[in-house]
Amino acid sequence: MLKALIIGGGGREHVLAWKIAQSPKVTQLYVAPGNAGTAQIAQNLDIRPTDIEGLAKVANDMNIDLTVVGPEAPLATGIVDRFSALGLPIFGPTRAAAKIESSKVFSKQLMQKYGIPCPRGEIFSTYGQAREYLEAQSPPIVIKADGLAAGKGVTVAISKEEARQALSDIMETRVFGSAGDSVIIEECLIGKEVSLLAFTDGKTVIPIAPACDYKRAFNSDQGPNTGGMGSYSPPGFFDASLTKQVTDNILEPTVEAMAKEGTLYKGVLYAGLMLATDGPKVLEFNARFGDPETQVILPRLKSDLVDIILSIIDNKLHETAVEWSNDACVGVVMASGGYPGNYKTGFAIQGLDKVHPEIMIFHAGTKRDENSQICTDGGRVLTVTARGKNMAEARMKVYENIQRIYFEDCHYRKDIAFREVN
Ligand code: AMP
Ligand code: GLY
Repeated sequence: MLKALIIGGGGREHVLAWKIAQSPKVTQLYVAPGNAGTAQIAQNLDIRPTDIEGLAKVANDMNIDLTVVGPEAPLATGIVDRFSALGLPIFGPTRAAAKIESSKVFSKQLMQKYGIPCPRGEIFSTYGQAREYLEAQSPPIVIKADGLAAGKGVTVAISKEEARQALSDIMETRVFGSAGDSVIIEECLIGKEVSLLAFTDGKTVIPIAPACDYKRAFNSDQGPNTGGMGSYSPPGFFDASLTKQVTDNILEPTVEAMAKEGTLYKGVLYAGLMLATDGPKVLEFNARFGDPETQVILPRLKSDLVDIILSIIDNKLHETAVEWSNDACVGVVMASGGYPGNYKTGFAIQGLDKVHPEIMIFHAGTKRDENSQICTDGGRVLTVTARGKNMAEARMKVYENIQRIYFEDCHYRKDIAFREVN
């Protein structure tokens, strides 16, 4: 019988709570800080995800048996190292291993050293050299800040001028601070994008069902980049043989490389891939579950997630079965008007009780106001999610039901999973 704690407060953490609460092993579930959705299935604790000492104290005082980390920031600051030093079981990579996400230079060098397929690129730590190299390239070209930049550190520049501007913003104006001490300038690849994540205990690697997310704010991939406006799983174009190819050529070699480098990688390894003409290549690694991909992945997981997580902590993943349903799953994000720019919060969310019972509504930026009404409290507000026997059915269920939910200025994309033809 376990007391579990989930760290984070977005849609990813709500779906993690939803799945973990289904485990017969879990008797008490806490989410820090959580949202109005997690409060319906767990107890929220008012502690920030980056308050590592505060979280460690609570986990210790409350005898938490298992902590699961959602976002990257606490991983990059070393929450796993701290909890482990205190003997508190926790799921995720150490600070050193999380560098695979928190430093794009680290992950690029790792991929280059071990021959893991990725776009051709060069690393620079001075503006002058970067600028000189850039002048010799032809657009389109991709400029990436090294460190965590809240998803804004990558520019796919269509013109040389746009590339110069991005480079200057990062290295001269220093819009991302020290996250821009180094940059990568890399070739621009063209192809379909897919996220393939894997469970790993540092040795065994088990791929997770693939998913696609939509980063742009508006229909037809228009508008600014966001944290993600929707997702679906599985993509019809990414079949079992591609999953095997990426597992064999990318995920396993990466986990092996991390071990060889003395930074054993345990947790979820997320590969953001481009299916280039000469095969899948890694655009980025993340050290955690994706958001909103997790909202469409975990509803398809038949196995008990807690069993998988415990087997990873105990280095026994090879003994564990990970089974997926054949269902399709679609999730559409309802966002506040203005997101990813400025937006207002505090609007009452109407109609949550009007959707069909089989629709899953995963909350992100929500809270209860003083009258106990659920209201908006962030840019991404809800992920409205449905399963179906195929993608068309899942998509239809989501779009039929999402219209029943309303808050002032809400917006959502109308084209999630529409290009999927299965
Ligand atoms: P990343 O944060 O590295 O995944 O980059 C964000 C987005 O930028 C990706 O999802 C891609 O759409 C795009 N991107 C990154 N690197 C490249 C590349 N080398 N070629 C083309 N597009 C890229
Ligand atoms: N959906 C992309 C991410 O979680 O980084």
